[in-house]
Amino acid sequence: MTLPVQLAPSILNADWTRLAEQIAEAEAAGVDWISLDVMDGNFVPPITFGAQMAAAVRRLTSLPIEAHLMVEHPEDQIDEFIDAGVNCVTIHVETTRHPHRLLQRIAERGVEAGITLNPGTPLSEIEAVLPICDRVQIMSVNPGWGGQRFIPESLARISRARSLLDDCGRESAHVAVDGGVNESTIAGIVDAGADWLVAGSAVYNDRESVSDAVARLRRALPL
Ligand code: DX5
Repeated sequence: MTLPVQLAPSILNADWTRLAEQIAEAEAAGVDWISLDVMDGNFVPPITFGAQMAAAVRRLTSLPIEAHLMVEHPEDQIDEFIDAGVNCVTIHVETTRHPHRLLQRIAERGVEAGITLNPGTPLSEIEAVLPICDRVQIMSVNPGWGGQRFIPESLARISRARSLLDDCGRESAHVAVDGGVNESTIAGIVDAGADWLVAGSAVYNDRESVSDAVARLRRALPL
């Protein structure tokens, strides 16, 4: 099964002083999701925002919203983000001793359950939860900042994640990629097996409009 490629701009690199406009521009450009990079200053050094931002973004767009929890103790955050109206919660396997239980709880609340892992974490760490995941997100940069270079070893991890999901009957689950997705990396990422792409600085930057940036990414997709 080949899943259609979906683009999910991360607002991490957007101009927060005009967030409503920036999200509307992305929506008008035809993106599929909005991704929220939630950082707590512990799991990763920066601090971004909490569930209140998710609730604000919920009021700004009809697009589905994904919350990428780069936080310690995600169990303390899940319900607030779901109550705020997000459509997917993605947790880091490194941040909990009970990933299976947390993913079950996310799914029981009726939203997509995602598992993600840092570039240095073996894929074996998530194998046991694949049957209950709606997506595996391969971090192709070390999390915390936008605008970093894509880690090329991620391509093999993307392909492996796709194979592992297919092998456990999760052909409809997404392989997401987050970090360094841009015009020059996107074709290889999709060819490796990814279908759900987070893009921050490739969409929100001072070089071009959001519309032009999204069109550039779409043109770079493999035929
Ligand atoms: C973790 C964040 C970033 C962001 C995308 O650092 O999750 O990966 O979403 O940033 P870009 O697309 O600029 O690498």
